[in-house]
Amino acid sequence: MQKNQHSYENLFEQSKTHNQDHLFGFWNKLDDSQQNRLLMQIAELDFDRLDELIRNNVLSAEPFPLPQKIEPAFFYPAEPKNDKQRNEYQRAWEVGENALRAGKVCAFTVAGGAGTRLGFDGPKGMFKISPVLNKSLFQLFAEYILNCKKRYNPDLRWYMMTSTTNHQETIQFFKDNNFFGLNPAHVVFFQQGMMPAFSTDGKILLDTPSSLSLSPDGHGGSLRALRKSGALDDMRRLGVEYISYFQVDNPLVRCLDPLFIGLHIQSGSEMSSKSLSKAHDLERVGNFVIGDDKLMVIEYSDLPDELAHAQNPDASRKFDAGSIAIHILSRNFVERITEGDLKLPYHRALKKVPYVDSNGNRFKPTEPNAIKLEQFVFDAIPLAQNPIVLQTRREEEFSPVKNADGADSPETCRRDLSARTARWLKRMDVHIKCDENGYPACGVEISPLRAIFESDLK
Ligand code: UTP
Repeated sequence: MQKNQHSYENLFEQSKTHNQDHLFGFWNKLDDSQQNRLLMQIAELDFDRLDELIRNNVLSAEPFPLPQKIEPAFFYPAEPKNDKQRNEYQRAWEVGENALRAGKVCAFTVAGGAGTRLGFDGPKGMFKISPVLNKSLFQLFAEYILNCKKRYNPDLRWYMMTSTTNHQETIQFFKDNNFFGLNPAHVVFFQQGMMPAFSTDGKILLDTPSSLSLSPDGHGGSLRALRKSGALDDMRRLGVEYISYFQVDNPLVRCLDPLFIGLHIQSGSEMSSKSLSKAHDLERVGNFVIGDDKLMVIEYSDLPDELAHAQNPDASRKFDAGSIAIHILSRNFVERITEGDLKLPYHRALKKVPYVDSNGNRFKPTEPNAIKLEQFVFDAIPLAQNPIVLQTRREEEFSPVKNADGADSPETCRRDLSARTARWLKRMDVHIKCDENGYPACGVEISPLRAIFESDLK
């Protein structure tokens, strides 16, 4: 008789073959529901793939393979440089708006991250950020999307990727807030994949005697999850061709930007990205470069120092295009690269991960003890045809909430939201008292329901 694929016997045998049978170390002490939970988690593991990952990414820490030839990336400037480009941008804006009207674009938020640095108890999108009315990140995006629905297409869809740890709470938050006025059928939640954490000698860690230590598989996992969840099929059925990708932690983002969408379409790009001019040579953002003739992102930690400090003849920074995780992806492209195994590299990080030892004692390490592996969405760029980069202005579109305090914190983000609003108002001749850096003395806020672009205030 054939053994049930997910039976104890089968999964135990598999884990033994792959040197992971310690996962069953407490089996006899578990009750039925605990045993089931453990079996369900182990059944999700692809042991053959994990063997390869353990060999190549856990037991060895190969440095990032730098391309032989690294040159600065071409990008479309934030403001058109001459009349020809002004016309091109004008046309692109119209093309983008037409695509939005025709229902060819959807919004897509990646909200599956753990948000450890912020230390907020709950999904990060629930964090209250707006400077006056204290609206959550989710609400600000919802209002932006509502504005676009009114302007362009009432059927516009918003896809949201969560993870096991925050899925239910995220949905509940939307329900509790009546989806902020959005049609619930137009907000599609789905979960990303999870990846186990490993000890430095390649063993999968247990979080408790009956559960693995699992974390989300990185924002690159969003591409696989789009397919696996059926979201891509849903998009094809609805005629959605372009996916406007943004992260949950940057409330200044243009969730749907006609110019960006239009340039993506006009240039026949399969994956487009926004960049900004780096604040300093070693800013902790990825760098857009042309590596061996392909557009790609090299992380700040991998870009050689002499390149980070390199200058043009006019003393401007040579590698100046920083990556801010805002993209347009063509649906066809995501379909193509997720056929079979998604071929994105795994990035290795040494982290502090609580675990249960072989005696059943749980430890909370004070030093990094475990390897986590994640895929990053920008690694898909070199796989795309005609990828482009559009520069944007930091003060208009980027101020992420990453840390509890200091740089990229709620305080800096609220300040930047207020400053942007004050700047928009100033150009409409409404003056708000600001300090010499342009930061208002008090919070200033305009709902995205009212204005998503400065020109909406005219
Ligand atoms: P970050 O790289 O800032 O990670 O994610 P994080 O997990 O949110 O925060 P820390 O590092 O634990 O403090 C950038 C964006 O990518 C999403 C996050 O939700 C955020 O929008 N993300 C990250 C995912 O959706 N899934 C992941 O596996 C990782």
